[in-house]
Formats: sequence, structure tokens, C-alpha cells
Amino acid sequence: MTTLTSQDYINLEDESGAHNYHPLPVVLKKGKGVFLWDVEGKKYYDFLSAYSAVNQGHCHPKIIKALRKQAKKLTLTSRAFYNDCLGKYEKYTTSLLGYEKLLPMNSGAEGVESALKLCRKWAYDKKGIPENEAKIIVCEDNFHGRTITVISMSTDPSSYKGFGPYTPGFIVVPYNNLKALEKALEDPNVAGFLVEPIQGEAGVFVPDEGYLKGAWELCKKKNVLFIADEVQTGLARTGKMLACDHENVHPDILILGKALSGGVFPISAVLADNEIMLTIKPGEHGSTFGGNPLAAKIAVASLKVLVEEKLAQNAEKLGAIFREELKTFERDHEMVDMVRGKGLLNAVVIKPKNGKTAWDVCLALKNNGLLAKPTHDHIIRFAPPLVITEDQLMEAVDIIKDTLNEFN
Ligand SMILES: Cc1ncc(COP(=O)(O)O)c(C=O)c1O
Repeated sequence: MTTLTSQDYINLEDESGAHNYHPLPVVLKKGKGVFLWDVEGKKYYDFLSAYSAVNQGHCHPKIIKALRKQAKKLTLTSRAFYNDCLGKYEKYTTSLLGYEKLLPMNSGAEGVESALKLCRKWAYDKKGIPENEAKIIVCEDNFHGRTITVISMSTDPSSYKGFGPYTPGFIVVPYNNLKALEKALEDPNVAGFLVEPIQGEAGVFVPDEGYLKGAWELCKKKNVLFIADEVQTGLARTGKMLACDHENVHPDILILGKALSGGVFPISAVLADNEIMLTIKPGEHGSTFGGNPLAAKIAVASLKVLVEEKLAQNAEKLGAIFREELKTFERDHEMVDMVRGKGLLNAVVIKPKNGKTAWDVCLALKNNGLLAKPTHDHIIRFAPPLVITEDQLMEAVDIIKDTLNEFN
């Protein structure tokens, strides 16, 4: 049997796969905790965590155990029938997060779509907005996924251009701007405000303290639903179970995804109370795979790992140490323009130097044993699995330091 090299695998994808991604040239075959290995056996720190889906670390034994155990028994029934796992998952998760109901879906974008439908249904059934007139306020530079409706809310041409016509019914306001939100809320047909507590894909934009609370209060005044997309920021990533917890905001509709499965499986969920969730009636929304028994068991195991291993606390503590280290780079390295983040969701803004960009820095980091990916050409996000220890973090900091020195 011939052994394929990294280049062989890259060529295979190039030849037979759609070209909708531009991956770093590394081909991975194994993951454990904070580490990944490529097909040649080289070991790396994972500082992307599959865009925060692997908060619990790669192949967490408790999550894999739950997967294996359930996979042997029952994987899918569809929602045409009940199964003996879904109700327990719904009960556990709603109790943990303080909601009355959970709607199970699969991808993050599907979770967002479901939340938008739910908000519109509530607008007509409860708020009394005339049929087909409901509007939802969204933020500039948002990222909520890739479906037609979701890109209809996007202000990034690389997300929406060439894919019209777009879904109507959205009002765009600048992020982190309460005045603009207040003005947009004057429209009586506004039903919801959809927001990322930190804009992850945009480059880890952390809003001013008080923004989320202020936005929530403005929404309450106008009987508008506050909808938090915590697909990336949720589940311990920013140092609290939810990023909204930093400001004691309890969203009317909460969207979770990614780490809800510990990176094992696409699992997303929408949470809300009865007043909102029960506006959707049987037959009005669904998904063949949403709420399948395998997903239900994986999700509970993934949430339990976050709680039992105190991963939010670890993210909070190590995030502060990491940012302090990164801040010294602002002073010592010309290419480092700015550092920002919360918990273990952080980013470094790179100033190109001698034609070298964030992409070149990521290639050099890869060569030195750490994987990260640029977002928007000039920003590098650093988001390791939350099971990282302080010693591992400091070793990774040294790799980043040494790499940046190569560019000085
Ligand atoms: C905030 C946010 N919402 C939604 C999504 C979409 O999730 P998925 O790629 O699972 O559809 C993402 C993905 O990065 C995200 O960051």
C-alpha cells in the first residue's frame, strides 16, 4: 500500500472538492486534547479549535465514550417517533441554561435560521405585527453562517455578493452603537435584535462594557426579542458559560452550536421560554437529524465536560494570562498592531511588513508547531481548546514569540 503525503491529500481535495475554502497547507490525521498531528507525524498546538467547536479538546474521552455507547444502540429515528434520549437532553440543557424549551437542530446556520423563524412567528402571533411585515435588526460585520437568508443579513461582500436575490426584512445597524439601535427600534414592526456578544468572524470585536445590557434594556422597552448568537462565543469560550453572562443578560432567544458537540458532530440548538417557543406548532419547523438520539447523548456529555472540568473558569484565568503576554507583543513586534479578546477567544491584528501578511505569520507558526488561521487577511484568531494548561499555554506563547521574532 502506498503512503500518501500531505501534498497528495491536498492535490486530491483540489482535484475533486469544491474550492470554497483556502486552507493552510497542513493535512491532519489525529487529535488529542490541545494537540493535532499531521500525516507525516508532526505535532501541533491547535489554536483554532475548529472555530471554537472543540472547546473540550480533541476526542475528549467522555464525549467519545458517550458517542460509542449510543452509536451501538440507536442513532436516528427522525422526529416521527419519540426516542429515549431527546427529552433528557432537553431537560438537562434547559435547566442548565435557564430556559423552558429547547429546539434541536444541526448546524449553527440552521440554528440561526430557526431563531429567525421563531422570532417572526412570535411577532405575528404575540406582538401583533401585520403578516409579512416583521423586521429583525442585525449588526454590521455580523457573521451568522452561509445560508441564503443568513447571508442576506451580511454586510461582507465575500459572503453575499453573487448570491442574490436576498431575503428581505432586516435592518442593519452599526455594532456596539446603542444610539443607532435605539433609533432603529422606533420602527413598530421590529420584532427582534440579533447580535453576537463578541463578533468572532469579523475579527474578535469585543463591544464596550454595557453594550449588551444596554441593548437588552432598549429591546425590553419596545417589546423586541433580544436574540443572542452564541454559536462561537458560547459554552465557556469567553470565560463564562455564555458571553452574555458577563453582563448578566438573559437572551429571549439563545442560539448554540459548535461546542455543543465538543466538535464530534453537527449539533445546534435554539433555547427560549414557552411564550416564544410554543408559537411554532407541529409541522411548522423541523429537521430529519435534529434531536437524534446520538446527538442528544453527545450534547449532554459535552455540556457535562464543560461544567465538571470548570472550563469557563480555566478560559477566564488563562485568557487573562494569555492577553497579558500578547500585549507585550504590541510593544516588541512591529507586525503586531493590536491585541483584543475575552477569555480564550483572542485576536492579534497584524500590520503587513515587507510584503509579509497574517497568512505568512500563520505559515511560519505552522512550521514552528502551532496552527492558527487568519480572518479578513490581517487578523489572527487565537482560540485554543479550553482544556489547555498554563504550562502548555506558556509553551505556545514561546512559539508565537519566536515566530514573530523571525519577522522582526
Ligand atoms: C456566530 C456564528 N454563528 C453561526 C455560525 C455558523 O455555524 P455553522 O458553520 O455551524 O453553520 C458561525 C460559524 O462560524 C458563527 O461564528
